[in-house]
Amino acid sequence: MKHTHHCAQLTSADIGSTSTLVGWVYTIRDQGGIIFVDLRDRKGITQIKVEPHDNATLGEQLKHLKDESVISITGKVSARPEGTQNAGLPTGQIEVVADSIEIHNIAATPPFPLDDEGGDKVNEELRLTYRYLDLRRPRMRRNLAMRHKVTKSIRDYFDAEEFIEVETPFLFKSTPEGAREYLVPSRIHAGEFYALSQSPQQYKQILMVAGVERYFQIARCFRDEALRADRQMEFTQIDVEASFVDREDIYALFEGMVKKIWREAAGVEIETPILRMSYQEAMNRFGVDKPDMRFGLELVDFSETFRNSSFKVFAGTVKGGGAIKAINAKGLADITQGELKSLEDAAKSLGAKGLAFIKVEGGEWKSPIVKFFAEEEKAALTEQLGLEDGDIVFFAAAEWERACTILGRGRLDAAALLQKRGKITIRPDDWKFLWVIEFPLMTFDGEAGRFVATHHPFTSPVPEDIALLDTDPKAVRGQHYDLVLNGMELGGGSIRIHQPALQKKVFEDVLKIPQDVVESRFGYMLRAFEYGAPPHGGIAFGLDRMVALLCGTTSIRDVIAFPKTQRGQDLMAQSPTPVTARQLKELHIQTVVPETE
Ligand code: AMO
Ligand code: AMP
Repeated sequence: MKHTHHCAQLTSADIGSTSTLVGWVYTIRDQGGIIFVDLRDRKGITQIKVEPHDNATLGEQLKHLKDESVISITGKVSARPEGTQNAGLPTGQIEVVADSIEIHNIAATPPFPLDDEGGDKVNEELRLTYRYLDLRRPRMRRNLAMRHKVTKSIRDYFDAEEFIEVETPFLFKSTPEGAREYLVPSRIHAGEFYALSQSPQQYKQILMVAGVERYFQIARCFRDEALRADRQMEFTQIDVEASFVDREDIYALFEGMVKKIWREAAGVEIETPILRMSYQEAMNRFGVDKPDMRFGLELVDFSETFRNSSFKVFAGTVKGGGAIKAINAKGLADITQGELKSLEDAAKSLGAKGLAFIKVEGGEWKSPIVKFFAEEEKAALTEQLGLEDGDIVFFAAAEWERACTILGRGRLDAAALLQKRGKITIRPDDWKFLWVIEFPLMTFDGEAGRFVATHHPFTSPVPEDIALLDTDPKAVRGQHYDLVLNGMELGGGSIRIHQPALQKKVFEDVLKIPQDVVESRFGYMLRAFEYGAPPHGGIAFGLDRMVALLCGTTSIRDVIAFPKTQRGQDLMAQSPTPVTARQLKELHIQTVVPETE
């Protein structure tokens, strides 16, 4: 379709020329017989002026025209009259006076308004059902464009660093050591299954054995896990692996990538090197392994203060090896009953027995527990928490990690309440990056009764801790790193094990995976490592999460063209669906559907 300009292009410099534009009718306004049409295309909006009394054909056409109809218009670019210019639009100084209009398609009335504000007010399910309309909204179009820009920036970066992009299979084998997998039945091999790749982890390590040395891939990954704002069942990783590297090389490589992306996509200079913090410190100060560093409200440890307290809940916890943690939610003493209740509920959902608190109001400490506190305990709290009138302190008494986690959540909730009251400001474009390092290699899984890999079983222990694998696996630190931005885990990776004997030991002796299972799942990898595996390491970033933060949203659904709902459905195409008995038979599958309540 011939057009001379796009809808964000014409300016005062074009006045007097003739132009043809194509696009969608964004709005139609009748102002005393003169009709104004805002025409929209992927680039922007141009105002069209139609004077039907001068042109009967145009008058007739306009009678049929509705919002979102698709048209071409030809006319003369003219200056807008004094006082009617729109400084907010690149085309705000001009309008195109229509000579002729061609109508390509009349649109049905959209089920929701397609401007940013109107569309934001409707429920997301409606937007997802009519995603093709939702994606016409300027904000959604900007989000898609941002995603493209970021992806291009990444490809350019790794190309310049001499990495090559290699595609790896989606149809992989089942190696259930991470998230739950999607299984795909094999027609040819009756009763056997592929698993959709959770990440290219094993293939990228094999590519190192293959001598590729510098690999990257913008890779789709599939995980059957509980969906949330920052989790989808299929998502995209910036996946990287390199040989002959150590942790410092990976930090420098990814800091360079982040710098370039933020410069090109957001016009912001990120300062490097990025701050680093051990897992231990992150938990102690922020109660989480992905701290949001845009505000304070740090956790303070009072275990020693309360070791011999007459408040038995606290003293008993310390004597049993646990910790007493506290935060001062500064200025939140005006918390409502309802808000307090939801903080307590959140704490309980994390295993807290309660969420003790002290309010400081009118020089008085108001709390159900303060009567148990000795003067020196109160003095320690006042001093270390900087207590003042209007503050409220929350406590968690539990085993160390749980106490940290409970108050880590309390810290985020309290910050949100303070932000709502205008007492603190947390800006989405205040970029606080952080490397979290020195994670424990293993975590004990109480349910399974065995150690599981904190990251994944291919992560190499810190060399000086290898000896502890036999004696004290919990104390072994892994060569694992996470990059965190504003409370979100952007990416994670590690230096890998490259000696087959050590890898086998981790599988069998530490993770206690039976030898025959190790052989059937990972035997091919151990074998590959026997043929000259170079030392190697890598990392994977969540592309969706990174783009979401750059677009100022925390929901990755806003930066994925066709995301699934929280219940794993595509509301537009309507999947999943049942399939025919014949299809199932071909795949040697019988289904047993549980009765729905
Ligand atoms: P990991 O499992 O930490 O590491 O994943 C890397 C990053 O991918 C993103 N991510 C997700 N994004 C959206 N939806 C999901 N369901 C989802 N799950 C993960 C996160 C996360 O930080 N192979 C290793 C990496 C490595 O060791 O090189 C891996 O997949 O941003
Ligand atoms: P109790 O003596 O059990 O009634 O508890 C007194 C106060 O301490 C209540 O406000 C409880 O919510 C709180 N509390 C009880 N156990 C804990 C705990 N482990 N951590 C933090 N607060 C607690």
